[in-house]
Amino acid sequence: MLPMLIAIDGPAGAGKGTLAHYLAQIYYLDCLDTGLLYRAIAFKMKKKGKKSVDKEEAIEEASRLQADDLRNPSLRDEEIGKLASEVAIFPEVRALLLGFQQNFAKHPSPGMQGVVLDGRDIGLVVLPEAPCKIYVTASPEVRAMRRLKELHQKGINSIYEVILEDIKVRDARDWNRDVSPLRPAKGAFILDTSELEIDNVVEKACLFVDSIYPESRKGVSSLSE
Ligand code: DC
Repeated sequence: MLPMLIAIDGPAGAGKGTLAHYLAQIYYLDCLDTGLLYRAIAFKMKKKGKKSVDKEEAIEEASRLQADDLRNPSLRDEEIGKLASEVAIFPEVRALLLGFQQNFAKHPSPGMQGVVLDGRDIGLVVLPEAPCKIYVTASPEVRAMRRLKELHQKGINSIYEVILEDIKVRDARDWNRDVSPLRPAKGAFILDTSELEIDNVVEKACLFVDSIYPESRKGVSSLSE
């Protein structure tokens, strides 16, 4: 049987990563948050003291990227996310990272049924052949509010309006870049999470996955179990 391939795309803060994580547990899949690749490059640039992104250096870092670079918890910082969206506009960087992502998808670990990748261009560019594509979205206001709560839980004080503005800037950059702009792939299941709790999001996504990969659930079948 062919390995399962699940492609999840959507804007920043829509809940793609959380969904990918649950699907990985339920269907026994290796999971790759592809935003971490762009963040790892951004992190290296910041470490060199760069405040903005230099194309040639970004290309060089992309060519040297290792799986271990993705394990750094600082990659989740807001500032790194902003720099990452600048790194992501360069076609040469994207081309280098494409190989990394496709290679990950081709080699699921022993005992796993396949892979789930989440990002912006997974369904359209990285795994266009994936039978199962999900586009997760939510209004900018809902995404900003979720982010605000997340930061408060970490003890970081932030201002809703500032977060909302950042989200809008990143959306514009992801939507309007020339190479691989963020778009739902043809046939993708569109999942608007604005009004949904996480358990409803997971259940809706699972019903869609089940329609493509019947009888594939292996782990917990819902969050309430
Ligand atoms: O999902 P994230 O916030 O970790 O992504 C960081 C940036 O990386 C985001 O602004 C867009 C970019 N990105 C991309 O262009 N393509 C991907 N597959 C994943 C992320």
